[in-house]
Amino acid sequence: MSDQSNDIREVMRTCIAMRHLKTDEVPEQMIIDVVRAATYASNPGNSQNWRFVVVRDRDRKERLASHVRATMGARFSGEPTGDESRDKMMAGARRLVEGFADVPVWIFVIGLNAYPPQAPNESFVWSTVYPASQNLVLAARALGLGTTFTTFHLVAPDAFRAELGVPNDAHIGTSIALGFPEKKFTSVNRKAVSEVIRWERFS
Ligand SMILES: Cc1cc2nc3c(=O)[nH]c(=O)nc-3n(C[C@H](O)[C@H](O)[C@H](O)COP(=O)(O)O)c2cc1C
Repeated sequence: MSDQSNDIREVMRTCIAMRHLKTDEVPEQMIIDVVRAATYASNPGNSQNWRFVVVRDRDRKERLASHVRATMGARFSGEPTGDESRDKMMAGARRLVEGFADVPVWIFVIGLNAYPPQAPNESFVWSTVYPASQNLVLAARALGLGTTFTTFHLVAPDAFRAELGVPNDAHIGTSIALGFPEKKFTSVNRKAVSEVIRWERFS
């Protein structure tokens, strides 16, 4: 399977959480490209209340990593369960926690609590952040870059907010790891569409 693809269905089908990333630098133009793609996303009233904080500085990553390790280090340290796909996922998650500072780029997708302007409602923050984040990971996959969607900022929201300089009227929505993949892009593992589709009514 090729690392790059402009076939949108192929990109979606193989956009797995890539928790094993090389430490190689990601060219700035590629970062700008994936953020541009994120801004193509649908969003409430075209308010575009998103900001993308790109973190590459080693010291900053180390400071954030210390919070992630302190809270999540133990969570992924259990014995293998025998469920191969779960164990692989846990090993990958552990790797991402332990190697937080080695991930070349972290992109924090921030939503401003500013829609609608006359009476901001927090639910619009999330409907702003998630389509943009999904566009970003798909664009990265198309370029042959691996990503993992995470909510690592939730381990220490105030510390992340302070480190990233996020104001009180904004929220960190997703913490996305970005880099060149160490593993192959394989197909996502999902339920058959026949299990999840309902025609006309849920039941
Ligand atoms: C909102 C959100 C939060 C996630 N948080 C994490 C996380 O903290 N750590 C992690 O390793 N993966 C995280 N993931 C990735 C999912 O675990 C992953 O997409 C899921 O297991 C399916 O695997 P696949 O995307 O490789 O097919 C998150 C995904 C989403 C959408």
